[in-house]
Amino acid sequence: MRTIPVKTASADYPVHIGRNLFAQIPRHIQKSAARSAFVLTSPEIWALWGKKFLAAFPKSDAPTVLFLPAGERHKRLTQVERLASELTNAGADRSSLLIAFGGGLIGDLGGFLAAIYMRGIDYIQIPTTLLAQVDSSVGGKTGVNLATGKNLIGSFHHPRAVFADIEVLQTLPDRELRAGLFESVKAGIIRDPALFRFMEHNAAAILARDPDALERVIVASIRMKAGVVAIDERESALRMILNYGHTLGHAIEAATGFRALLHGEAIAWGMLAALQIALARKTVGPDQAERIEQTILAYGPLPPFRARLAKLLAAAGRDKKNRAGTRRFILPKGIGNAIVVEDVSEAELLTAINGLLARARKE
Ligand SMILES: NC(=O)c1ccc[n+]([C@@H]2O[C@H](COP(=O)([O-])OP(=O)(O)OC[C@H]3O[C@@H](n4cnc5c(N)ncnc54)[C@H](O)[C@@H]3O)[C@@H](O)[C@H]2O)c1
Ligand SMILES: [Zn+2]
Repeated sequence: MRTIPVKTASADYPVHIGRNLFAQIPRHIQKSAARSAFVLTSPEIWALWGKKFLAAFPKSDAPTVLFLPAGERHKRLTQVERLASELTNAGADRSSLLIAFGGGLIGDLGGFLAAIYMRGIDYIQIPTTLLAQVDSSVGGKTGVNLATGKNLIGSFHHPRAVFADIEVLQTLPDRELRAGLFESVKAGIIRDPALFRFMEHNAAAILARDPDALERVIVASIRMKAGVVAIDERESALRMILNYGHTLGHAIEAATGFRALLHGEAIAWGMLAALQIALARKTVGPDQAERIEQTILAYGPLPPFRARLAKLLAAAGRDKKNRAGTRRFILPKGIGNAIVVEDVSEAELLTAINGLLARARKE
């Protein structure tokens, strides 16, 4: 087992990465001040892993299980209210602990529920998708969607600990695995040249879920994110680089109604498009751009999509990461470094989006 500490101005907690981690959770709860524990999961994840999870607990001490249905459309306040009522009915109080056991959806909603239930209770994350392990379970961002946009209601609330168990990834659908790996490729591109090189040369082993290869990718991705969040917890500057591929990625998700692509796939398309801006601005050379592109594509296939230019442009302007009037892009600077630019012109954006749309239709 590997442990990476996350230290920010407001939190200090361990992220454990390894196999057979469920066995450690009861001990962790015992050591905490929690007097009762509740698990939030989905029926699908519970069917696959619930038995093994419960086997780690003494029968008399099994946590109460709450369910959230799978699907982004359930990441809503109504579910938070329902679950809070279920917590109350089951006797949860200020000293209770919530265990978010699932993908990013359960982590985000569970973290938010923990942030506001009785003005805040402790929670731990057991992320079960690669995306949740390498990205969403670390950093303390929690929240739910509104009809008007994703993640518009939320709060910063860090978990007490994260247990990223590589074994649970064995049941993850292939497409979900690949979608999460795009965020790890991103981690390499923006801040970790060694991770980039490893992913450049070991795609076959990683995609075959070789445990050692996966562990290496997960550890490096978490270390990258933990390092960035430690310096910039609230996204004032450095944390913005985590959004490489996200300005256009979010626009693609919105313009395709959040149905055609998984988040990581939209981000991969967004990274390819932003790479063209970087190439034109010479923040990457042609050889570097080629290596970045080939490495992103190695974790494909990228599903094709169609979207109207006007819709994409409008959505790119609405991205909440933009300050009024500026178009913010994260561009790779060489491999393993990135910069934030605020002056991307209308013409540059149009070229990037037109190139993207032509390619996305064909792919
Ligand atoms: N808080 C953050 O910093 C942050 C960062 C990135 C993304 N997010 C959020 O994360 C969410 C997406 O998370 P996600 O990609 O993990 O999707 P998800 O949680 O919706 O899970 C994807 C699918 O995989 C299934 N699944 C999960 N674990 C499984 C397993 N081990 N075996 C088999 N099936 C499994 C789920 O049932 C679901 O159908 C979005 O809501 C996004 O906004 C948050
Ligand atoms: Zn992302």
